Amino acid sequence: MTFKEEMKARSEAISRDITAYLPKEEGFQKTIFEACNYSVINGGKRLRPMMMQAVYELCRGGAGSFGEEDHKILMPFMAAMEMIHSSSLVHDDLPCMDNDVLRRGVPSTWAKYGEDMGTLAGDGLMIYAFETASASTAPAEAKAEAIAILARKTGIYGMIGGQTVDVQLTGKQPDAKQLEFIYKLKTGALIEGSFMIGAVLAGADAETVARLEEAAGCIGMAFQIQDDILDVTASESELGKPIGSDAANGKVTWLTHYGMERSVRDVRSFTDRALEIIRGIGDHPFLEELLVYLIDRKS
Ligand code: IPE
Ligand code: IPE
Ligand code: MG
Ligand code: MG
Ligand code: MG
Repeated sequence: MTFKEEMKARSEAISRDITAYLPKEEGFQKTIFEACNYSVINGGKRLRPMMMQAVYELCRGGAGSFGEEDHKILMPFMAAMEMIHSSSLVHDDLPCMDNDVLRRGVPSTWAKYGEDMGTLAGDGLMIYAFETASASTAPAEAKAEAIAILARKTGIYGMIGGQTVDVQLTGKQPDAKQLEFIYKLKTGALIEGSFMIGAVLAGADAETVARLEEAAGCIGMAFQIQDDILDVTASESELGKPIGSDAANGKVTWLTHYGMERSVRDVRSFTDRALEIIRGIGDHPFLEELLVYLIDRKS
């Protein structure tokens, strides 16, 4: 199987498995179920759960070792992470945030269901993620640690903290330190959480978890800088979301702060650092290829 085929297969398997955790669209609050499901089902690359699984495999001695029992341990957390990521996109698109009407090639959740349901669907998914994760069959101690990581990396010390500073500094001139803080939290935190949960549930020791957290932080930086580049260089049809959103919102990004040449270089050097750390832990060709692929991704 080529790398591209493997990525497609992993992404499709994740999408299929996540669907099994989504709520049934029935009852008086049916609309929230529909809006939640719409926000998760509508595509997406599934990178965070894909990374969580790859790191789990890495810490268990390599790819190909993922069986039925591993699935019951890990899949609830993979689904939970994708629900939280999707919820962050639902809120990110709201008129009071980035005010975007297109996401994953279809109307953003608020554009389809209204601002009220967009807000509630984001809230709903974020909480339902924890209900979903709690179904994991992992040993109690590892499960408790993984849930704590999921909460910390999602919340005010993680993604939400980063979005806070991002929104507050929109239309202003953040300095390099503030920009790095925003990227590390708004985007890095969920990737850090994905890596750490994969490692913890695989039984990795604390030092390995810490090294993987650092690698994931680097990937988060590279990923968000590349996202900023795509906001300028990609097409709406490739990206599935509006291009020029950052400029329309008056956002200072890595790209506007450092310029294209340095930004492209930084995507590579952050990725190289991550690869170096991962190679020091074990052998997982798919994970390595995935990170290299993300450098030049078009969506
Ligand atoms: C988009 O993330 C938001 C950022 C953190 C830049 P993805 O590019 O992973 O979005 P989907 O899930 O594939 O739609
Ligand atoms: C994404 O930043 C950060 C999130 C936590 C959602 P962006 O605002 O650049 O993400 P896109 O470009 O809308 O996906
Ligand atoms: Mg945003
Ligand atoms: Mg946005
Ligand atoms: Mg963006």
